[in-house]
Amino acid sequence: MPEEEPYWLSRNPTEQQRLARQHEVWTKSIGYLLHPSIARILPGNARIADVGCGTGIWMTEMAKSSPSTYQFDGYDISSAQFQSTDTLPPNVSLNSESDFKKSYPENLVGTYDLVNIRLIIISMGEGVWESTLRNVLTLLKPGGAIQWIEGDFFVARGFRGSSSTSSGGHFLTLGQLKLNGTLKERFGYNFPNWMNMFTEAGLQNVEEDVLSTDRLPEQRSDFTEIGLGAVFGGLKNLSSTKTEGYWTEQEVGEYRQKAIEDMKSGAYLRWDLHVSIGFKAL
Ligand SMILES: C[S@@+](CC[C@H](N)C(=O)[O-])C[C@H]1O[C@@H](n2cnc3c(N)ncnc32)[C@H](O)[C@@H]1O
Repeated sequence: MPEEEPYWLSRNPTEQQRLARQHEVWTKSIGYLLHPSIARILPGNARIADVGCGTGIWMTEMAKSSPSTYQFDGYDISSAQFQSTDTLPPNVSLNSESDFKKSYPENLVGTYDLVNIRLIIISMGEGVWESTLRNVLTLLKPGGAIQWIEGDFFVARGFRGSSSTSSGGHFLTLGQLKLNGTLKERFGYNFPNWMNMFTEAGLQNVEEDVLSTDRLPEQRSDFTEIGLGAVFGGLKNLSSTKTEGYWTEQEVGEYRQKAIEDMKSGAYLRWDLHVSIGFKAL
């Protein structure tokens, strides 16, 4: 289990903007907000929970293209990134102080047709994926669906771009490996085998869609910018703990600059996006 640590992505307006940008770029590369195998079976009065919802952007975008009879409820441990309630569609609610690692209140158990989870990897680790999955599945009605979207940044590295001026992306790789090493060794981070984990949790009709972030070449620089922000933002936050083996804030700044030069030359960061789905038994 990861030991208790500062949430190493900040919760502030810059992070809010990063989440909005990330949403746009990820959705374009994945090609849908909701996996087609789930979209086609949702009832007309679907109740949908978005767990670890951040700003709530997945729900507000879903609401634009779904029947107004759907109800979306977002849950997060913190309200710091919530969009203001006056900008929310009437069928979207945001609820804070909801910890996906703790049992849900009785009145929510068995009430949802769909649970969506996206990008909570930084709160996960060995064994935590499985226990969190079992906990969130209690929210589902029999036959209800789960969609869980994560990026596997353990396979991320820099690549030489197509332009003749591109570097090999050495500093993009270096920053990513530095962060990955720390997350694995110090905090016990891992990336699960989704098909096994979903099947072992008793889910049926499990599917996993794996997409490469360079699927759409025109999005390579967007993914690189997003990844670079997360990698060097994370390394900067970790540097504040002043632990041996971490880069100092000054080193983070210097390596960040070199990684930016890699990016400007045309090199890019690439990793895998996983969309995993399954259905609770009837
Ligand atoms: C990287 S953000 C992703 C937000 C959103 N799912 C999206 O894709 O835009 C991760 C979110 O998980 C929330 N979170 C972290 N630990 C949590 C926990 N134990 N229970 C509920 N939410 C948590 C954070 O507050 C943050 O809003």
